[in-house]
Amino acid sequence: MVGPVIFGDQLILGIETSCDETSAAVVRGQRVLSNPIRSQLDLHEKWGGVVPEAAARQHIEAILPVVDSALDEAGLGLNDLAGIAVTNRPGLVGALSVGVTYAKGLAYALSKPLIGVHHLEGHLVSPFLSRANPAPLPERFLALIVSGGHTELVAVRGLGNYEILAQTIDDAAGEAFDKSARLLGLGTPGGKAIQELARSGDPRRYALPRPMLHDPQRLSFSGLKTAVLRTVELEGAGLDRPGLAASLQAAIVDSLTSKVVGQFEQEEWSDFALVGGVAANVALRERLQFECQKRGVRCLIPEFEFCTDNAAMIALAGAWRLATGQKSDFSLACLPNADLPAHPGLVA
Ligand code: KG4
Ligand code: ZN
Repeated sequence: MVGPVIFGDQLILGIETSCDETSAAVVRGQRVLSNPIRSQLDLHEKWGGVVPEAAARQHIEAILPVVDSALDEAGLGLNDLAGIAVTNRPGLVGALSVGVTYAKGLAYALSKPLIGVHHLEGHLVSPFLSRANPAPLPERFLALIVSGGHTELVAVRGLGNYEILAQTIDDAAGEAFDKSARLLGLGTPGGKAIQELARSGDPRRYALPRPMLHDPQRLSFSGLKTAVLRTVELEGAGLDRPGLAASLQAAIVDSLTSKVVGQFEQEEWSDFALVGGVAANVALRERLQFECQKRGVRCLIPEFEFCTDNAAMIALAGAWRLATGQKSDFSLACLPNADLPAHPGLVA
């Protein structure tokens, strides 16, 4: 075990605006002092998806009040901060630009270090955040990142040292939930709505595909949404909606679990982390906890507050980078696509 010192104990402000949540947070080491999140879900719901231009405009309106409430809640002022961490990649460029430009201005005016953070590195450290009792960071762990934009199985061989072992070749797991929820006329976020409806359904009601179950490196979810559409059309008024929601959830859980179990058979792991918005799914959490327990693997899952996009995870990744002497310069760019860093010390 590496002690908590790896994250330092300085006060770091985190800023997250990569998609449709404006969030700011203050952390001291692994402890979260504040983490307000302003969601744009209502704004984008009427268009059936995130509209990049509208997202950027909404971040502009929200960023100052959200940072103010993060500082107020923490009982701190700007001068108390040791550094400013901001998501600069990957994400919607217009949305990222709002957070990055704001963070640069703040860092410049206060003469404090600026740290650009990869959004997925934020998700990877999210199980180690807490307001009360943070979990210790293992030296290495296997992580499944499942969100609206990503589905990746990652070998974390120390922070900053990431190897992608498996990933989706088309849609992300969260996208499969969201698109199917739309087909079923459910609200957003789709994953949560499907989970609620699935509670009263039979997961064996409809036979849905689980492609690439035995391929250790690849996942695919686009066929699932087509199968859901076909079922909705075929069944018409006789559709068993809870049954379809439960069958869909079971297909996604099976597909994801097969990759994790396959990796447990390939390599010895004593710690596993489930992260990203879809980590809020109770069926997925329970299934992976069960698979871990069977093998004596510790299963790390973020508290619900830190599963979906939030700035506390960005602040924590930034805290680690700053504690290890890394920072960005003021030419920090916003990148729509970017691989997870393969070596520690790679700060953009
Ligand atoms: O990590 P996140 O907030 O944003 C991205 O980085 O994409 O993940 C959002 C995704 C959405 O697809 C949403 O439907 C899904 O997380 N999600 C869930 C649940 N809560 C949120 N999926 C399944 N079950 C849930 N309870
Ligand atoms: Zn995310």
